[in-house]
Amino acid sequence: MDLYEYQARDLFEQYGVPVLPGIIADTPEEVRAAAEKIGGVVVVKAQVKVGGRGKAGGVKVAKTPDEAEEAAKAILGLDIKGHTVGRVMVAGGARIAQEFYFSVLLDRANRSYLSLTSVEGGMEIEQLAVEKPEALARIEVDPITGIDNDKAREIATAAGFPAELVDKVADVFVKLYAVYTGEDATLVEVNPLVLTEEGDIIALDGKVTLDENAGFRHPNHAELEDAAAADPLEAKAKENDLNYVKLDGSVGVIGNGAGLVMSTLDVVAYAGENHGGVKPANFLDIGGGASAAVMAAGLDVILGDEQVKSVFVNVFGGITACDAVANGIVGALESLGDSANKPLVVRLDGNKVDEGRRILTEANHPLVTLAATMDEGAAKAAELANAAK
Ligand SMILES: Nc1ncnc2c1ncn2[C@@H]1O[C@H](COP(=O)(O)OP(=O)(O)OP(=O)(O)O)[C@@H](O)[C@H]1O
Ligand SMILES: [Mg+2]
Repeated sequence: MDLYEYQARDLFEQYGVPVLPGIIADTPEEVRAAAEKIGGVVVVKAQVKVGGRGKAGGVKVAKTPDEAEEAAKAILGLDIKGHTVGRVMVAGGARIAQEFYFSVLLDRANRSYLSLTSVEGGMEIEQLAVEKPEALARIEVDPITGIDNDKAREIATAAGFPAELVDKVADVFVKLYAVYTGEDATLVEVNPLVLTEEGDIIALDGKVTLDENAGFRHPNHAELEDAAAADPLEAKAKENDLNYVKLDGSVGVIGNGAGLVMSTLDVVAYAGENHGGVKPANFLDIGGGASAAVMAAGLDVILGDEQVKSVFVNVFGGITACDAVANGIVGALESLGDSANKPLVVRLDGNKVDEGRRILTEANHPLVTLAATMDEGAAKAAELANAAK
């Protein structure tokens, strides 16, 4: 589970990581009040779970409560990569002398932890890794010994921090690592970590991913999750135990099994290159038991996304055979009635595929097109989404 910036900020504060005051607000009036309370220059920041908020106009400096209110009007309701801003954080304004980057994450390939650190913060880290890989220190962190003071100094030195800053940032790295292990996170990232004109090191932005498998050890994480489900589509998916991630494209995707759905996203994106550059709108894995109810819940979530113009259902029949899936689709369309209003391309394969196809052919639903292969289905769905643009 990814946390919002303000949730990460709160966790940082609990662990003694230096942060600036931050108050969440849902209306321009609340933003004004928060700006008055914090005093001085503030920064109004969109709370959405995607990167690049600054570039999208989601981070604005305000010198007065009036300006903060204006900034809030511009940011609330803004669409950032398909995420509508419903909440902002009003943060104290820092006088930045320098921006750095720090992260610690689970390195699955090496069965270890990894710290990525750079004195060249501010820039997007993906871009830095490609354009200036030498500026990014990649230091393996042994999960047994973790980041103690020595390790933190090693990281700071490898990243090229000047000698006079090493102790100061090392202290912050140790605390950020305490967040990482203490909360069972798989990622703690600070971009930017800054040096202020006053000489303080402060975490100005935080990204934390918690390991949901460790949720049982953290009763307080449930609360973070409730707030995380503020997006109505994600909340609906969660209620139905669906594995759903919203993306920015227009082709809705439903499949069974995470691997199949992931490859479906790739195939749709690839097919989209020939159809106006359309992209997948979501990840949705309905899992093994693709019953009518589960299919209806999945379709309901996807059709509720205004960006979706077509849907690609890609199912490989296993224990739940294709006939059950086909009945699921027919039943779902029936139960959704008029709210099912976008074209559906269905590709079935695997157990009882002929029976499944026969059921769909006989149902002859006007919205449904059958595709013989995954590539054909992706191309058709992309074509339909492009035509509906
Ligand atoms: N509290 C603050 N005071 C002063 N400047 C800030 C503050 N917060 C952010 N900034 C400036 O705005 C830039 C962008 O902010 P931030 O890193 O929070 O958002 P982002 O990087 O655009 O979003 P994301 O991290 O989601 O990609 C920072 O690099 C920093 O220069
Ligand atoms: Mg940032």
